Amino acid sequence: MRTLREINELRSTLRDYRQRGQRIALVPTMGNLHAGHLALIDCARKHADIVVSSLFVNPMQFGPGEDLDGYPRTFSADQAQLVEAGCDVLFAPTVSALYPNGLDAQTRVHVPEVGEGLCGGSRPGHFDGVSTVVSMLFNLVQPDIACFGEKDYQQLAVIRKLVRDLHMPIEIIGVPIVRAEDGLALSSRNGYLSEQERATAPALYRTLCALRDALESGEPADKVLDQGKARLYEAGFTPDYLELRDASLASVSPATRHAVLLVAAKLGPARLIDNLSVQLPTPAQTGINK
Ligand code: PAF
Repeated sequence: MRTLREINELRSTLRDYRQRGQRIALVPTMGNLHAGHLALIDCARKHADIVVSSLFVNPMQFGPGEDLDGYPRTFSADQAQLVEAGCDVLFAPTVSALYPNGLDAQTRVHVPEVGEGLCGGSRPGHFDGVSTVVSMLFNLVQPDIACFGEKDYQQLAVIRKLVRDLHMPIEIIGVPIVRAEDGLALSSRNGYLSEQERATAPALYRTLCALRDALESGEPADKVLDQGKARLYEAGFTPDYLELRDASLASVSPATRHAVLLVAAKLGPARLIDNLSVQLPTPAQTGINK
């Protein structure tokens, strides 16, 4: 695996691959890799000849008071895992390489609508930061495909829209959530949890499963969501949001069948997110109109 820090080196390396007609996949990460990231690399390897992963803790997507400084940085371990996983190129630029004029002077990419509400509501500017850095990586790598985790459901929707709206010839592949045995979705932020909080954390997924079952059996959505929030508070979480949306993140309507339950909740120092798809029964049973 080649580890590259400079934009010029990345461009010339990828030009060679492209000239040989090789298909390139990109897996953008912020490092501190776990099995969820390795599933992205695996997916990329299945769809392309050359796998490029980026490792960049992107300051633009962190708000004031968020965990930019404390975000886990484990470069050598990440490098070793990427080699083991069969990654060909690791692009790990410095902040000044990507934002040479500083963040304030930086052109930003804003994806309207789908980036509003949910995480976009509680983390203002977050998706502009994600969209900007992902656009930059897409421009630098010019991948044929790019893989993103479905745990960040809204992020995936934002990136799909970004690629569509800007006519980028990149196929975006969503990769299913990887969970620990007890159901907790893997996340770099799980490392912030104390032993006791880690034992509580799977209640987030258990709650989503219980809510999905209730919704699929026709219980009214508003009642189910209220019960879900109460259950999360009882378990020790502070819910940021718990919402039912259609699969494209629009509001559910009586016609919606494929929906998704999305949650973000604080547990101690960690803000955890998760989601679960729901097959809604007939409108009369869902109670959406009640
Ligand atoms: O999902 C992430 O790790 C980040 O948001 C991403 C896509 C690498 C952009 O910084």
